[in-house]
Amino acid sequence: MQLLDVNALSKTYYPKKEGLSYKALSNFHLQVDKGEFTGVMGPSGSGKTTLLNMLATIDTPTSGNIFVDGTDPSTLNDNKLAIFRRQQLGFVFQDFNLLDTLTVKENILLPLALDKHPKKKMDARLDTIAEQLGITDILEKRVTEISGGQQQRTACARAIIHDPKMILADEPTGNLDSKSARQVMDTLTTINKEAEATILTVTHDPTVASYCDRIVFIKDGAFFSEIRKGERQQTFYQNILDTLSVLGGDFHEHPSPRA
Ligand SMILES: Nc1ncnc2c1ncn2[C@@H]1O[C@H](COP(=O)(O)OP(=O)(O)O)[C@@H](O)[C@H]1O
Ligand SMILES: [Mg+2]
Repeated sequence: MQLLDVNALSKTYYPKKEGLSYKALSNFHLQVDKGEFTGVMGPSGSGKTTLLNMLATIDTPTSGNIFVDGTDPSTLNDNKLAIFRRQQLGFVFQDFNLLDTLTVKENILLPLALDKHPKKKMDARLDTIAEQLGITDILEKRVTEISGGQQQRTACARAIIHDPKMILADEPTGNLDSKSARQVMDTLTTINKEAEATILTVTHDPTVASYCDRIVFIKDGAFFSEIRKGERQQTFYQNILDTLSVLGGDFHEHPSPRA
C-alpha cells in the first residue's frame, strides 16, 4: 500500500535581498509504500532538507503535490494542519530537540499532551517502546544525565509514541559517534520492523544509509537515481559508495546558516 506520493514537487526560494530566485528542488517524484525505510542522499545543498521540510509541512511547495495516505496537507487550514502534523508525523532531528529540564519519560510523552489519550494506554505503550529501544532504565533520568546516543533513542521513542503514519529524520546521526550512530540506526530499524513504521531519513553517512531498504539520490535539486537493498547489507553499502562517487560534490554537512 502506498503511503507517500510526491508528484512533480518543486521549490523555488526568493531571497529578499538579492532579488534572485533559487531552484532548490525541481520536478521531484517519490512514492513510498507503507512500512518502507527510505534514505535520501545527495551533496550539500542538493535540496534534501528542502524536501524534508515540505514533507514535514514546515515549508510549502512552489508547485507539485504531496499526498500522505491520500491527504494533501497543503489543502488543510492552519488548525487542521497543526493536528495533521502532530498526529500523522513523527520527527527526529540532528540535534535531538529534547527538553533538558524534563526526564526521558516526560519528553517521550510530551507529544501526547495536546490530544486526549487515555493515561493507562499511553503508559503501556511507553513501556513497550522503551523496552524495544532499550531505554527502560533511563526513563526517569533527565536529558542532561544521558549520552548523545541515548538522547537520540529518546527522540526516536518520542517520534513514534503517537503511532504516526510517517517518521521523518534529518541527519539523525549527524551529532553522534559511529557506535551511537549504529545504535540509533538499530533503533530506527526496530521501529521500522516491529511497529511497521514508514521512515524517511536524510543522511550523508553511507554506513547509516545501508540500514535503509532503498536510497534515493538527489543532485542539484533533482532526482538522480535510486538503489534498493538486496540480500546483503555489505553489497548495498558498496553500491551506495559507488553511487556517491559518481554523484560527486561535497558530502560534509555544514552547520546550516538557517536555524
Ligand atoms: N530559506 C531559504 N532561502 C534561500 N535559499 C535557500 C533556503 N533554504 C535553502 N536554500 C538553498 O537551497 C539549496 C538546497 O538547500 P538544502 O535543502 O538545505 O540542501 P541540503 O539539505 O541538501 O544540504 C541550497 O543551495 C540552499 O542554500
Ligand atoms: Mg540539509
